[in-house]
Amino acid sequence: MKLQHCISVEQFGPQLLSDIFRETDHMVRVLKDGGNFVLRGKVMVTFFYEPSTRTRLSFEAAMNRLGGRVLSTDHASSFSSAAKGEDISDSIRTTASYADIIVLRSAEEGHARVAAEVSVNALTGEPVPVVNAGDGKGEHPTQALLDAYTIRQRFGRLDGLTVALVGDLKHGRTVHSLAKLLAAVHGPGAPGTLLLVAPPAFQMPEDVLACVESRGEGRVRVEMIDFEEAVRRADVLYMTRLQKERFGKTDAAAVPAYRLEARHLGEMKSEAIVLHPLPRNEEIAREVDSDGYRAWYFRQAAYGVPVRMALIRILLGA
Ligand code: NCD
Repeated sequence: MKLQHCISVEQFGPQLLSDIFRETDHMVRVLKDGGNFVLRGKVMVTFFYEPSTRTRLSFEAAMNRLGGRVLSTDHASSFSSAAKGEDISDSIRTTASYADIIVLRSAEEGHARVAAEVSVNALTGEPVPVVNAGDGKGEHPTQALLDAYTIRQRFGRLDGLTVALVGDLKHGRTVHSLAKLLAAVHGPGAPGTLLLVAPPAFQMPEDVLACVESRGEGRVRVEMIDFEEAVRRADVLYMTRLQKERFGKTDAAAVPAYRLEARHLGEMKSEAIVLHPLPRNEEIAREVDSDGYRAWYFRQAAYGVPVRMALIRILLGA
């Protein structure tokens, strides 16, 4: 299994996904033993131009658990040379000579792809893997990998399921990646359904829908429905927050008001679960947390570590 960079979920089809998940299953066991040292001597840079709790710390935890080391810039817009006017290409070109792998979170869609093009160690001429840890409202491929792994842990499969994406589908990069990733997992005998729940001003972008259609090859049905119906029909109810930091002037007026409350839980299908990439605002009432059968979002965040361990190891070919 060879992977040079991780930029978009469009890189991942069913075979690669199942290889990554097999490696993740292994990493779950490695973690139970506290980790190992397969990446001893390797260095990761985490370059974060936008706020993060889970993504950065779980990448760093993953690298540490495999015996590697981490250099971190977590306020890169103000504490890196970006504050002195350096562009992303020069920053990455430099960093690529300091590390074996670069994890980048940027506010600009497309930055991860630009970074991958220039990520070469200046002394050895070797390419250095870049991982997209979120590029503006573009993609968040590693989140989609851990979302999909979580779903597989619950249902034992990904195909044939009904997944509802709820909230700010326009600006949310996690839902862009998850929709595209899941589009490719359905077999001919097990078509899947994607339920989209968002007000008109916050709908899934056309380019994402086009990608879902082409990757789905007729095996994924997409429906736009209301929240109450999604609660009843979904196997996976994927809630998201409003991405207010990405709002334009007209968005604030059209704020959607979806909120999952304890009263909804009894209406869900018998095995259905609630996911959320976190951080949460008002869209899941705290009372839902105590339903351990349905509320899977903290478990989902926990899978971020073994999934990222697996991905790092594959990228480093270790
Ligand atoms: C998400 C992100 O940064 O896109 N957070 C995360 O990485 N788990 C979701 C969000 O910020 O709403």
